[in-house]
Order: sequence, then structure tokens, then C-alpha cells
Amino acid sequence: MARAFVPALTATVFMCVAAVVLAPLVRSQTQSDLAKYTVGKVKSGYVYATPPTRAMEDDDFQNPGSLWVDKGKTLWSAVDGSAGKSCQSCHNAAATSMRGVGATYPKFDAKLGRVIDLEQRIGLERQRMGAVPWEWESDQLLAMTTYVKAQSHGMPVNVSIDGPAHATYEEGKAFYQARRGQLDMSCQQCHVQNNNRLLRTEVLSQGQTNGFPTYRLSWQALGSVQRRFRECNEQIRAEPLAYGSPQYVALELYLAGVGKGLPIETPSVRK
Ligand code: HEC
Ligand code: HEC
Repeated sequence: MARAFVPALTATVFMCVAAVVLAPLVRSQTQSDLAKYTVGKVKSGYVYATPPTRAMEDDDFQNPGSLWVDKGKTLWSAVDGSAGKSCQSCHNAAATSMRGVGATYPKFDAKLGRVIDLEQRIGLERQRMGAVPWEWESDQLLAMTTYVKAQSHGMPVNVSIDGPAHATYEEGKAFYQARRGQLDMSCQQCHVQNNNRLLRTEVLSQGQTNGFPTYRLSWQALGSVQRRFRECNEQIRAEPLAYGSPQYVALELYLAGVGKGLPIETPSVRK
């Protein structure tokens, strides 16, 4: 039994989960399948997910996230805004033009002089069309983010954390390590120091972001990575930040930097 490191969460909350992690995998899942989701010490949430959840992710027909990919595909060719254009008018087929693009976000935008995430990039594209940017967590923004990201499915996370993006990466790292909330906890305490232990009924993964937007069974919906950040902040009774806040964008860049090389899994399925 592991020690409880947070009195408020009680000793029963964290337990050694070697039994869960080492339990025999379903017959179709070999260690080499899982090796795809591991780069050195870096492991995708896929590795911590149960075999049925992994199977749901792997099968396009069962994966509920596929619905958002389909919606995104419809939106890609839908004309909207004062310029009378669709995404497709300028970019043609997403399978070609967007291949690998999602894996490079968050990214430094030279015109704006700051790092932006994929949702913000899509907002700028909407403005380019003379259309109103979609709201955060709207079905449309989730669908387009998922659709663009899915064009990089299986490709390695490939963000730049050097040069003009470096300061933002460092800001994200500082945020990740800072304690906050009534429970006075950092992201790192759960996802690094207590990685692989049980928190209530959930195995703590490394908190990687390569699968987002993610379909969460507990949400019964697809959600952005920032929705997850907000929920993790709320778990320790910290005030969640607004969607698109610079701190969350920096956090996204930091985590993508840590998870560099992991395959893009969008849309992943998690508990
Ligand atoms: C009027 C033409 C036009 C339309 C319409 C348009 N885009 Fe773009 N888009 C561009 C251009 C040009 C660039 C490259 C601009 C740059 O480098 O700053 C770009 C860049 C992008 C990028 C970033 C590529 C990268 O390598 O970082 C993404 C993602 C993107 N567009 C998605 C979309 C989506 C999604 C839509 C529809 C909602 C859309 N675009 C509509 C012209 C367009
Ligand atoms: C009290 C413990 C706790 C803290 C503190 C915490 N999280 Fe989490 N987080 C969880 C749990 C539980 C889950 C769901 C199981 C898992 O993947 O670890 C989760 C999941 C995640 C995931 C999804 C992983 C995936 O594969 O889908 C990300 C990303 C994440 N957390 C990031 C963060 C960030 C960033 C912070 C700090 C702002 C943070 N977490 C703080 C408990 C915590």
C-alpha cells in the first residue's frame, strides 16, 4: 500500500495499482501494440486505459469521437462568412493540406507574436473567412479541432519548444509545478509523483495530451484539453481559468513538449 500524500484525500485514495497495471491484457493486445504509445519514460494515457476502453478507441465504428470527425468533415466544406468561402476553398482536401499540422500545435504565430493553440488558429481562420469564431467547447469548434488533429493520427507530437516558443514553454512548466487550490497541489504531484497510483477509481496517468480532443465516458461527450485542465483544477478546488487563457495555452505547449514523439491519438477515448 502506498502512502497517502494528501491528508485531505485520505489514505484510502492512493493505492498501489501494480495489480491493475500488470493484469493480463486482452488476447488481442500485445506488448508491442502498447510500445507504440510509449517513448522512453513517456507514456500515453492509452497505456493506462482498460482494454475495453482501448478497444473502443481503436475501432472507428465504436469510437464515439468519430461523430465529431464526421461533423468536422462536413464543416470543412461548408461555405460561411462574408468572403463566401469554406476551409476547403483555400486548403482543398484536409487529408493532404492538414496532414501533420495538428501535431505542431500549440505553435508560435509570427504575426501575433505569441504562441496559439489549434482552437485559436481555427478562430483566426474563421475571421479570415469573414465569419464569427466558434465558441470554446461548442460542437463546431470541437468538431473542427478534432477533424484537423485527426489528419495527424499516428504521427508523432511535433511541437517546437525552442526559439520564440521557449519562454511560453517555460511558463507552462512553472504553472505545472506550482501548487494551487484549497488542496494546495500541483499538476506534478498527481501526474508525476503519484503516477500509476489509484485516485479513487482512476489510475493516474502521466496526464499526456496526445489524444485530445478526447471522448470521455464520464462526460458522455468529447472535450478539449482545456476542459480537462479545468476539471483537474477543480479537483483540487482551485479556480479554473478561462478557456484560451495564456496560462492554459502555455500549459498545452509544455505538455506537448513533454509528450513529444507520442502518436497523435485524436479522437482518443478515456474513462
Ligand atoms: C481565404 C483562404 C483561407 C480560408 C477560407 C481558410 N484558410 Fe486556413 N489558412 C490560409 C492561409 C493562407 C494559411 C497560412 C497562413 C499563415 O501562415 O499565417 C492558413 C493556415 C491555416 C492553418 C495553420 C497551418 C499551419 O501549418 O500552422 C490551419 C490549421 C488552417 N489554416 C485551418 C483552416 C480551417 C479549419 C479553415 C476553415 C474554418 C480555414 N483554414 C480557412 C487560408 C485560408
Ligand atoms: C488530484 C490529482 C490531480 C491533479 C492535481 C491534476 N490531475 Fe490531471 N488527472 C487526474 C485524474 C484522476 C485524471 C484521469 C486519469 C488520468 O489520466 O490520470 C487526470 C487526467 C488528466 C489528463 C488527461 C490524460 C489523458 O490521457 O487523457 C490531463 C491532460 C491532465 N490530467 C492534466 C493535468 C494538469 C495540466 C494538471 C494541473 C493543472 C492536473 N492534471 C492536475 C488527477 C489530477
